[in-house]
Amino acid sequence: MSIRFHEEHKTFYLTGKESSYIFSLNEQGFLTHLHYGKRIAEADLRYLMQGIDFANSPSVEDCQPSLNAIPQEYALYGRGDYRSPSILIKTQSGSRLTEFRYQSYQIVKEKPAIKGMPSLRGGETLIVTLYDKINGLELDLYYTIYEEQSAVARRAVLKNKGTAPVSILKISSFSIDFARNDFDLISLPGEWAGEREIERQPLRRGIFEASSLRGHTSHQYNPFFALCDKSANEDLGECYGFNLAYSGSFTMKAESVSHGFTRVNGGINEVDFAWKLDVGEEFESPEAILVYSEKGLNKLSQNFHDLYREYFINPNFVFKKRPVLLNNWESTYFDFTEKTLCDLIEKAKDTGIDTFVLDDGWFGKRNDDWAGLGDWTVNTDKLKGGLKTVIEKCKECGMKFGLWFEPEMVNENSDLHRAHPDWHIASPDLESCRGRHQWTLDFANPEVVEYIKGVMSDCLEQNEISYVKWDMNRPMTEFYSKALPSDRQEETAHRYILGVYELAEYLTKKFPRVFFEGCAGGGGRFDPAMLYYFPQIWTSDNSDATARTYIQYGTSLCYPLSSMSGHVSICPNHQTGRVTPIQSRMDIASFCATGYELNLHALQKEDFDKISEHIRFYNGIHELILRGDLYRLRSPFEGNYFSQMVVSKDKKKALFVMMKMMAKANDCYPFIKLKGLDGNTEYEIAGMGTFRGDVLMNVGLRFPKNLLDFETRCFVLNAVEK
Ligand code: DGJ
Repeated sequence: MSIRFHEEHKTFYLTGKESSYIFSLNEQGFLTHLHYGKRIAEADLRYLMQGIDFANSPSVEDCQPSLNAIPQEYALYGRGDYRSPSILIKTQSGSRLTEFRYQSYQIVKEKPAIKGMPSLRGGETLIVTLYDKINGLELDLYYTIYEEQSAVARRAVLKNKGTAPVSILKISSFSIDFARNDFDLISLPGEWAGEREIERQPLRRGIFEASSLRGHTSHQYNPFFALCDKSANEDLGECYGFNLAYSGSFTMKAESVSHGFTRVNGGINEVDFAWKLDVGEEFESPEAILVYSEKGLNKLSQNFHDLYREYFINPNFVFKKRPVLLNNWESTYFDFTEKTLCDLIEKAKDTGIDTFVLDDGWFGKRNDDWAGLGDWTVNTDKLKGGLKTVIEKCKECGMKFGLWFEPEMVNENSDLHRAHPDWHIASPDLESCRGRHQWTLDFANPEVVEYIKGVMSDCLEQNEISYVKWDMNRPMTEFYSKALPSDRQEETAHRYILGVYELAEYLTKKFPRVFFEGCAGGGGRFDPAMLYYFPQIWTSDNSDATARTYIQYGTSLCYPLSSMSGHVSICPNHQTGRVTPIQSRMDIASFCATGYELNLHALQKEDFDKISEHIRFYNGIHELILRGDLYRLRSPFEGNYFSQMVVSKDKKKALFVMMKMMAKANDCYPFIKLKGLDGNTEYEIAGMGTFRGDVLMNVGLRFPKNLLDFETRCFVLNAVEK
């Protein structure tokens, strides 16, 4: 790994494990992008800076190539580059023009953290400083690379060194121009209970945008997409992944308009965003993560997984055995008493379940979803002995206790709202939309965040709680904060998410032993910034094993298995009505941070008896889920089978799963070729025999042709010691 500036070529070379990122200064001091892709030697690439058209140009010499015709590193607005700009500001005079030219650079060994926002740790960082002399603005572009990774983390910081305030209308975390447009684009759109479906399409002329205007990343689009060779598949081809470490309204664009170029940029969504930057102040963008693979999509995913596990996810927990929990939500919903819960806990005793998580409904007057949010004190109508009785019961049964919160919300019918009717996000002009009968608290108001810090801390201090599920169940509307002056209203959405980070930072630091799980109506806020605080996220409210194969498969494109939580639930499934075998539900839930979410009393005895077996099995493979390399074998989006496996780094152990979606009369025998094993090693598969790695990978395993609907096969492969 290295970051080098070649004085003579005026070129920056950022060399990662298998990738190079190269850009240069042109004679006018603009940054020109030269190469991002396979690792190459530090060659002189300035021949790529020859312009290919003579359109509008900021050069004093006429007929110089225009900025529109040269790949840019961070694009200006209004100076002849007509594609999506990286930065747009407005001055008091009404001007929107900037002209950032190169000023200096520095290379720092210790990566500076972003103030108030999560970012990758470690790595070596290049900071390139540009200066806009018209407005006295300084722009620092950050690039971080890692020795063992093929990744570049980027962000931008704008400093007002001028004499008057300016308004930032747009500031991208990154922008990159590829001198080609023959890509396919893969994104992760979805919806509630159907998050992160894989969608692949040719990149066409025009602009593709993945975005959210909901105040959180959303079920509808994940802040991720990839560009890849049209011929790329799981194992072959160049692939570029882009992911934003941001949990609010975002945008990511891929624009293919002129000269056969592709521009990709992303950051905070510029719609309804503006930030007043006073003299002497600075504004930091969230971080964007660019990952490269020359060996197809599977390697791209592995690169993301390794990077996030090593440098993003909370190091206190990332490689720690995850609690195997029982959550009461799908078992009781709001309808429980102390007795119901204690009976459930009693039933879970000795199954191997180690944590009981009490979900929504334990606080305030929360008997349905019309009331109580904001009142984080125990509902003693339901829990006469408070949380203590339930916690004592957990202890008696050898379990720990976890608790659900929805810190960012308030119901109209709550003591909090009656005491502070101004504390939710609401416009002075319109009646606020309700979502699930609730309003979003104004986390742009520090007073609100301080209050929630206090009540949650009290609860965590007064009770033995080892686990918190942090939920968030509605997107924002009426983006208006009563705590902000009129000229700062467009800061509301970003300030809100900074407030969320502030609370998460405070609680995770103050309670370092408490494990936090993220959730937003299932997987509506699944992004690296959330993973920084919450090592796992409730992947979806859809707990149907078959639906989960799609959701977990799509999510794995960018996020590691251990970041997804998945539970065994009852059948018919509450979201789809589908009936799947208990073994299939267990097998699919084994490929993530596993748990249970059902009424244990409602299970048939033979199904109940399988729980201990499943948890014993899971405890034997959990290291693979935490640390292993994922291989996707069959996509449920593309056929009748789902299959994947995870292999230990030393290739001595692996876990395999496959599911047949629909049974077919007189079907063919399914053959599945395994991946990632050592070809010369013998692997033992219990009940099936011993096979050489090269046989498993090149011939494959044959499965019965008469598998039923949604039936799975799941097994461990152990290398035979010689
Ligand atoms: C949505 C979550 O995704 C569910 O798991 C559950 O916690 C409910 N909210 C509770 O209201």
